[in-house]
Amino acid sequence: MKLGVCYYPEHWPHERWPLDAAMMAEAGLDTVRVGEFAWQLMEPAEGRFSWEWLDEAIATLAHAGLEVVLGTPTAAPPAWLTYDYPDVLPVDAEGRVRNSGTRRHYCPTSPTYRRHSERIVRAMAERYGRNPAVVGWQIDNEFGCHDTVRCYCDQCAAAFREWLQRKYGTLDALNEAWGAVFWSQSYGRWEEIRLPNLTPTGANPSHVLDYARFASDTTVSYQQLQIDLLRRHTVGQFITTNALGDFEDLDYHDLARPLDFIAWDSYPTGHAEHQGEFLYLPEKPASRPEDSKGEAFTYPYDVGDPLITAFCHAQARGYKQAPFWVMEQQCGPINWSRYNTVVRPGTVRLWTWHALAEGADAVVYFRWRACRFAFEQYHSGLLHHDATPATGYRELLAMAGERTLMAEIASHPVEAEVALLLDYDDLWAIQIQPHRADFTQKRHLFLFYRALAKLGIPADIVSPDADLGHYKMVIAPSAILAGEETAGRLAAYARAGGVVVFGVRSGVKTPTNLVTDRPLPGVLRDLVGATVTDWGSLLPGTGCDLTTDLPGLEGRASFWVEQLAPDPGTVVLASYAFSPFGGSAALTARATGSGQVLYLGWYPTEAQASAILGHLAAGAGVARLAEDLPAGVMAARRGPYTLLLNFTDAPHTVRTGGRAVEVGPRDVRVERK
Ligand code: GAL
Ligand code: ZN
Repeated sequence: MKLGVCYYPEHWPHERWPLDAAMMAEAGLDTVRVGEFAWQLMEPAEGRFSWEWLDEAIATLAHAGLEVVLGTPTAAPPAWLTYDYPDVLPVDAEGRVRNSGTRRHYCPTSPTYRRHSERIVRAMAERYGRNPAVVGWQIDNEFGCHDTVRCYCDQCAAAFREWLQRKYGTLDALNEAWGAVFWSQSYGRWEEIRLPNLTPTGANPSHVLDYARFASDTTVSYQQLQIDLLRRHTVGQFITTNALGDFEDLDYHDLARPLDFIAWDSYPTGHAEHQGEFLYLPEKPASRPEDSKGEAFTYPYDVGDPLITAFCHAQARGYKQAPFWVMEQQCGPINWSRYNTVVRPGTVRLWTWHALAEGADAVVYFRWRACRFAFEQYHSGLLHHDATPATGYRELLAMAGERTLMAEIASHPVEAEVALLLDYDDLWAIQIQPHRADFTQKRHLFLFYRALAKLGIPADIVSPDADLGHYKMVIAPSAILAGEETAGRLAAYARAGGVVVFGVRSGVKTPTNLVTDRPLPGVLRDLVGATVTDWGSLLPGTGCDLTTDLPGLEGRASFWVEQLAPDPGTVVLASYAFSPFGGSAALTARATGSGQVLYLGWYPTEAQASAILGHLAAGAGVARLAEDLPAGVMAARRGPYTLLLNFTDAPHTVRTGGRAVEVGPRDVRVERK
């Protein structure tokens, strides 16, 4: 397993570089990422390149035995570029031009920006594409960060119309696919179609969904332009990009496909604060992390929420169903959350082990030394501003004795037996019309993920197009736009022995975001063996009691409920006791081939999901890595190794593989099968 660091040699005097490189090597680092924001230094004026500084930086690092990952610098267009070519600047949803002076201020459609990007990437690739010290490339930096996938400029509007023309061919087909007859939206000329922002009221959901797809495709094609150049001019160097932890505007399956592997950037304290709000339901404390007594559980302030971190790792692992890198790993306080808490000793090591446990091949810390200037001057690094070791650096030294075991574990893959399906079309369709406050695809997905994690069952989060054959169970929380193809694939998977669980709102719509005219759940109805005869949302605090014999399944159906009418032969596992759907089936199971298909007709609580999934997992022979995991303890497996990670400040005893093992506070325990 590689450990690396993000380094900005351009922020420090040249004389310092050899000492930095020596200290990196001494701490056991083997990889250094450089260059991803240094366009202005590489090309101080249009077409005039200056490479000497970068040559020297790479040579200095190589001399210390370090391998270099080079970033293409397109996340930071230089001032001369945006001054000379203001048409590269993006426009936000309010129609305002976004300013230069920070980063990511470019429109990914802009032909001008693409031309300049090509020049710098080609020049870099020609210069470093055969440099043996350079092992790979990171393209751009965090595509989409700072809300930069969806641009609303005129160039994007024109490109969107071309995209639509390619997709639909004729305006008749588009009008039909969008239901454009509504409110006189039908188009007679392509030029009449605009971007769906700044409308007085809700734009047509089919229009908005296509725009979301177009915007994602545009970033993917912008990345492809760089990939093509790098593939042409480099030899034996990998190509990756760094994804955000949990981000919704980009289809990461599409972004990851042409890359050698995907990377993501892990900031556990920041993500707990920023993403926690979007991943948990705000309305019910019962859906917050709970301890075994059902009381709200709070993690120590500086470790983040390990369920969120694990969820992000599982997403990264699923984008290509392959090992990934953590290209930026928090190694001390960050600068972009509300409290930017101090990070106590033991945490950086725990985060590193966590990444390894969840399938990372490399962990690259952000950043080497705290910067004295500009926006991130309060962001920590492995070294303090004055170059003395910070907590992160000291922890690296302490990890030295563990590197052999880490490398051994990293040589084994993560083999989850359960998959959760993430489809960005579904995600966007629900985002566009959630119908009920707080209903999002990610919340729904994360709920099932947590239910599994607490059962000690690892899960991959994958595209419905992924290879599902090796999973014992597949959960589709809301396959709302599922088409015939997905239905067919899941049917074949179930017939071959798999267990499929559909959640509410599955099969409701067509791929162009119209409601189906077939009995629900639409294309999935025959597979499910039950009809959803009615459905609706419930007010916070209200619910409907359940009748069931399923062990551990208790409480009420709340949030969202659907009434099921099973076909003969379909088994009813739970029913509603009272209105609105009293007496009707709430959870059904239908055998098919040697597998089965379930439809879960309400949006469950975490405890209800655990009861249902625990029951199914036992039936399907899915292994549980531990029983009764205490809150704050995570379990993972790579090959023969089970890793137990304790994110609390107290020791915990965990039953795993028939034994009781103790995991110390903020510690990891590795058990070999
Ligand atoms: C990341 C970004 C880095 C740095 C870091 C600070 O999102 O890729 O360049 O800004 O955050 O935490
Ligand atoms: Zn644009």
